[in-house]
Amino acid sequence: MIGLRRGLVRGARISALGVYVPERVLTNDEISQFLDTSDEWITTRTGIRERRVARVDQAASDLGEVAARRCIESIGLDPEELDLVIVTTISPDHIMPATASIVAEKIGATRAGAFDVQAGCTGFVYGLAIATAFVSANIYHNVLVLGAEVLSKMVDWQDRGTSVLFGDGAGAVLVQPTDNGSIFSFDLGNDGGGAPFLNVPAGGSRQPASYDTVREHGHAMHMTGSEVFRFATRTVVDSCEKVMGDAQVTVDDVDLFVPHQANIRIIETAARRLGFSDARVFANLDRYGNTSCASIPICLYEASQTGRLTKGDTLLMAGFGAGLTWGSCLTKWEL
Ligand code: ACO
Repeated sequence: MIGLRRGLVRGARISALGVYVPERVLTNDEISQFLDTSDEWITTRTGIRERRVARVDQAASDLGEVAARRCIESIGLDPEELDLVIVTTISPDHIMPATASIVAEKIGATRAGAFDVQAGCTGFVYGLAIATAFVSANIYHNVLVLGAEVLSKMVDWQDRGTSVLFGDGAGAVLVQPTDNGSIFSFDLGNDGGGAPFLNVPAGGSRQPASYDTVREHGHAMHMTGSEVFRFATRTVVDSCEKVMGDAQVTVDDVDLFVPHQANIRIIETAARRLGFSDARVFANLDRYGNTSCASIPICLYEASQTGRLTKGDTLLMAGFGAGLTWGSCLTKWEL
């Protein structure tokens, strides 16, 4: 039984899902043909076997457009009925304007406000929290939260420590009001001291683009993997315990745990510390790699399609990423 305490809100639910991943599959074996790595290393250290890679002409908004359309079409919602389009991404089409503005235009959401959320790979959970707040406050009724990433264009393909980890994809959810007392409990966090551990150093106002920044691969993702690994396992556990405590539920009450898909060892470590059996943990990074802000909505879609997530289930989601940020959310599944 979920109780209501500080930090909990009522009245918003995920009411539709949509996903798009590019057709092109890039396997570990293919990568090892041009990089000093192997399927054995990547699979053992990360759990990733293959990932999807966008076409040269596809940007985040192109993937996002398809996922967004599929999401609202699945329940027959007219795009003009959307009040707000929130895009969460670390691989936006441009620094300016927001990718959300482009997606809203593409799908015909002519009445909607639109903005991007940048919170590293935790973006989707942050976006969901914002959407929930708008809907619960009765300000908006139809809010689209989209995670859309083309990370294959954000990595240095000569850096084996990062390039093998990421993949492309998009996932969207619609947040609408509910009378059923669906309850969201959120925990959002940040430790800016960890900013140097995961970043794209150049291209912003700190290091504007120049010949030097291009030559030094300053526009690609840089990561101190071991630091991120330690941070992730610690914060995911603490954050999940906090949202469960706020909602007065225990691990035994949670039907499915959907963590951000960065590394199977992070997922297994966090799940073990929290006390989840494998059967209650969702993972698909073997097929998609780390799709950052798109990873959780893609998981929700697959879990829902395959019957791992059914109406009435208690769902726990947890994200972490650049910032360093983290975020968790507990909800009743009402789809
Ligand atoms: N293939 C072969 N060898 C490799 C590769 C590779 N792809 N990458 C690194 N190595 C080598 C290293 O050079 C090192 O060699 P050395 O011992 O001769 O120096 C050795 O493997 C071990 O390297 P480590 O970095 O210690 O390997 P580790 O076991 O820590 O795994 C990894 C690295 C997979 C990156 C891990 O640290 C990790 O997953 N960290 C978390 C990353 C993550 O979650 N990032 C996403 C955050 S979300 C976001 O906001 C984007």
